[in-house]
Amino acid sequence: MTSLSESLSMFTDRVMDCIKTKKKIMVLTHMDCDGLTSGSIIGKALIRAGANCTIRSSMEFSLKVAKSLSKDGRDLHIITDLGGGFASDIDRELGERWMVLDHHHIPETEMDNERVINSWKFGVDGGVDVCAGGMAYLAAEYMDKDNSDLSPLAIVAALGDRQDQGEKRSLTGKNKEISKTAEDLGLLEVDMDLLLYGRETRPIADALAYTSQPYIKGVTWERGACATLLKNAGIEIKKSGRWRVPAELTQDEKVAIIDAIAKYAPGPGITEAMTEIIGHTYTLTGEESGSFLRDCREFGTMLNSCGRIGKPGVGMAVSMGDRDAMLSVAEETLREYKSRIREYMNIISNDRWRITTHDYTVMVNAEGVVPETMSGTIASMISGSPKYNGKIIILRTSGSENTIKFSARKAQGCAVPVSLSELLQKGTECFGGMSGGHDMAAGARIDKEKLDDFLDHLEANVNNIQGNNTPQSE
Ligand code: C5P
Repeated sequence: MTSLSESLSMFTDRVMDCIKTKKKIMVLTHMDCDGLTSGSIIGKALIRAGANCTIRSSMEFSLKVAKSLSKDGRDLHIITDLGGGFASDIDRELGERWMVLDHHHIPETEMDNERVINSWKFGVDGGVDVCAGGMAYLAAEYMDKDNSDLSPLAIVAALGDRQDQGEKRSLTGKNKEISKTAEDLGLLEVDMDLLLYGRETRPIADALAYTSQPYIKGVTWERGACATLLKNAGIEIKKSGRWRVPAELTQDEKVAIIDAIAKYAPGPGITEAMTEIIGHTYTLTGEESGSFLRDCREFGTMLNSCGRIGKPGVGMAVSMGDRDAMLSVAEETLREYKSRIREYMNIISNDRWRITTHDYTVMVNAEGVVPETMSGTIASMISGSPKYNGKIIILRTSGSENTIKFSARKAQGCAVPVSLSELLQKGTECFGGMSGGHDMAAGARIDKEKLDDFLDHLEANVNNIQGNNTPQSE
């Protein structure tokens, strides 16, 4: 089997050949944060190299998408963050006119296909050590060393894809190597700091209240309690008439906040929570202080919001460097996304019939509420609730063309020994449909009339896998 550098060399040769002979290239990418960043990285590298290229995004890959590519008149298709499991279909539709850069699990049959440049083929764990943004970055850097200034985008991709699974929410493997490149170029600062949600943009009390990882009873979601707690800790929350944000806190103030939380919310787990609230932060030095692009995690949330509420082009434009009109549209999109999340979460928690808790799973029926583009976001939010620690969350909602879209996530502390991508894949093998993803997060789509069979199958399989294991208690 070829090595990663041989694959990247083949990729570069094919792209450069297209550019020299003035052939047309299409980049097709996924519409989430990792997709938009990987598409932007490769798109920018192509444009810099003088390519005639177009970039398109898609919610998912399918035979229909492969067929549409065969008719678009392009000479080469670069598919990022998509396409896993479809190699033989794409081969049939496009012949040699395609390459994939990806990190999702792929079937054994795709391992020898040289057009599939997937991290797992090269022994790199695509679940945590690299994402599609990282794979696209490695390809761009191979094309031209000067593309190393695109490394920060690969970090946004990794954090947006929640690959910060190393010690103290750090990046590992290839992601860590790429972050080192970005640091060496002075484009990224990696620090150890309070991991508050909205480090650069939210008033401190809001950031504390909206931080749910770790979940701190009496503090998380309790804006009033957070304001009191900060006051007691002697923290100035406003300066010159403007709300201060977490990134402005001094070292002493951070220590005072940690002490205050521990006093305010004593109880089991507080020491652990206080350890978890400190971790690695990734800051883009070239972005303005107070901008939602400065903290890589916030940048990632913005990109997810653009992709998931139908404005992938806006996210792509900002990723590729637009800091004018598109930036304010992106900000508005982010606001809209947050408000939709609140609305969907409220409906789901008020309509109690929508959630059914079993020994190992929590089934969420979000039909008629959550659009399919946001099923993953809402499943992830639910999996963050301490109520569901140890469980597998399986959310379903209505999809296009009479289908049902599933998003599965493992909640914190879930030790059920099953890969969610395998679980869903077994189901789609039996009842038709498509699935894919990772051990901890996976998605699927099935025909609506297969719903009952599919649900029975999931339940039976989770229980089977568990065997004699004891269920996690709530
Ligand atoms: O759609 P959702 O966010 O739930 O998907 C979870 C993960 O599974 C994502 O990384 C997504 O790209 C992947 N996935 C996939 N193939 C599918 C559905 C989801 O690779 N058919």
